[in-house]
Amino acid sequence: MNIPEITAAEAAAMINHGDWIGVGGFGPAGAPKSITPAIAAKARAEHEAGRPFKVNIVTGASIGASCDGELAAVDAIDRRLPFSVNPEIRKAYNSGRVRYTDLNLSDNATFLRQGITGPVDWGIIEACDIQEVHGRIRIYLTAGIGIAPTITHMARRGVFIELNTWHSTKLIGMHDIYEIEAPWYRSPIRITQPVEIIGMPYIEVSPEHILGIVTTHQPDEARSMTPATAVTNNIGQHTADFLVQNMRDGFINSKKLILQSGVGSGANAVLGALGNCAEVPDFNIYTEVLQEEPLRLIREGRVVSASTGALTISPEHLQELYKDINAFRGRLLIRPSEISNCPEIIARLGICSLNTAIEVDIYGHVNSTKISGTKMMNGVGGSADFTCNAMLATFTCGSTTKEGKISSIVPFCSHVDHTEHYVDAIVTEYGVADLRGKSALEKAEALIAIAHPDYRPLLKDYLKLAERYGGHTHHVLNAAFAMHDTYRRKGDMRLTDWAEYIKE
Ligand code: COA
Repeated sequence: MNIPEITAAEAAAMINHGDWIGVGGFGPAGAPKSITPAIAAKARAEHEAGRPFKVNIVTGASIGASCDGELAAVDAIDRRLPFSVNPEIRKAYNSGRVRYTDLNLSDNATFLRQGITGPVDWGIIEACDIQEVHGRIRIYLTAGIGIAPTITHMARRGVFIELNTWHSTKLIGMHDIYEIEAPWYRSPIRITQPVEIIGMPYIEVSPEHILGIVTTHQPDEARSMTPATAVTNNIGQHTADFLVQNMRDGFINSKKLILQSGVGSGANAVLGALGNCAEVPDFNIYTEVLQEEPLRLIREGRVVSASTGALTISPEHLQELYKDINAFRGRLLIRPSEISNCPEIIARLGICSLNTAIEVDIYGHVNSTKISGTKMMNGVGGSADFTCNAMLATFTCGSTTKEGKISSIVPFCSHVDHTEHYVDAIVTEYGVADLRGKSALEKAEALIAIAHPDYRPLLKDYLKLAERYGGHTHHVLNAAFAMHDTYRRKGDMRLTDWAEYIKE
């Protein structure tokens, strides 16, 4: 193969201030980990020499500390999209040092191809193997795909490959790589079963497009999930009961139960609790991130088949999976994010989505992204892709956070990512608020009933006061954020005094 072996520093040396870099992988599975720290080292040297150096980073979703963490720490990122969970970069975009575009993951690759975002100068892709066949290069990816196919094809200066020997070549055959056609009048994306293969197991490019191969041996950067708690177990049980009831009512086909589960420890624990519930039949998964609990359930046969954008599991779990990967063949596929999050497929499969909310208001609007309405947490990720297109769109959250000082159910969300029109049900440890077919007032009553008992009287009082102002969706606008404001001023939402806000 006539592609030069280079070092990470040599790759970084080619990258200039203002360049756009597309990075493969997804959240942070399968992301390259050696060139981005070298870019950070270059940025530090350039800054010390008094020269500006910032790059723009586009990825499939979140990415590991070796990219977001290292680059943000040396102030080397100008623009970043579409999603991130790294605390270092979170600080940077909440202090205005990084221009962050929070984007639906399903739109990401299309936006790049259309030139709405980008362009892409360089691609950095992690591979477990590279083969030359008939003069073309086949790149076999690792534990996550993201937008790797799109950036590989679009990178106008070329692509660097990190050949990471830590990953097993047994991964070959586990990917289904397909890029969506350009708009308009696209042909259907013919996925009618979670693990139906429509694409190729590799990305193919011409050798000239690859600028160099950096050989590495580095574990993936996914962290272990925090263990289940009494709250997440209760949420899991309520969610299971709710799904079972929906099957009994004929709203969900028990023989075709297919779930999506969101990102984070809460989502992981809820899926685990669902799997442990004997009344929930064996099910399928079509999702963007497969965390530890669903992998356990695949092993146990509770999950029949699973399609994901990434294996976001700890390095130890990933190596275990590589050891007996044959048990997963034919039951597990890894897909690009535009396919794992594709609205058309989500709607066709009739998915029940389970995502986590930061806060929910009494009329069923959901905030997934902004703490107190202003501070970015992670981003919308794929939650809107699934919520807007799912057969049954459910959000879960603990009824409170910060030792009970913050209620997750509030009169008015301080930021809205998912409107009442897409949100079907909310689950807390106190039960399920099934919002389907309910009027605004009925939604409010159902949601207050699953709020933490400390907050129910407060929320009932708000509703009673708001009813006096009439209208369809009762609110006292100058008091709608009183609970948030009280937390800001007094450090505890329970100290909210409506009389301070509602002067009559
Ligand atoms: N007000 C203030 N802080 C809040 C809050 C609220 N209403 N709700 C949560 N928080 C804080 C928690 O206290 C915690 O703070 P800490 O890090 O200081 O402990 C932090 O936010 C994370 O909360 P936690 O409950 O641990 O979150 P999680 O790991 O279960 O993730 C989301 C929850 C919502 C942040 C996460 O699911 C997310 O980013 N979702 C958006 C993207 C998405 O849904 N993608 C999936 C689609 S497939």
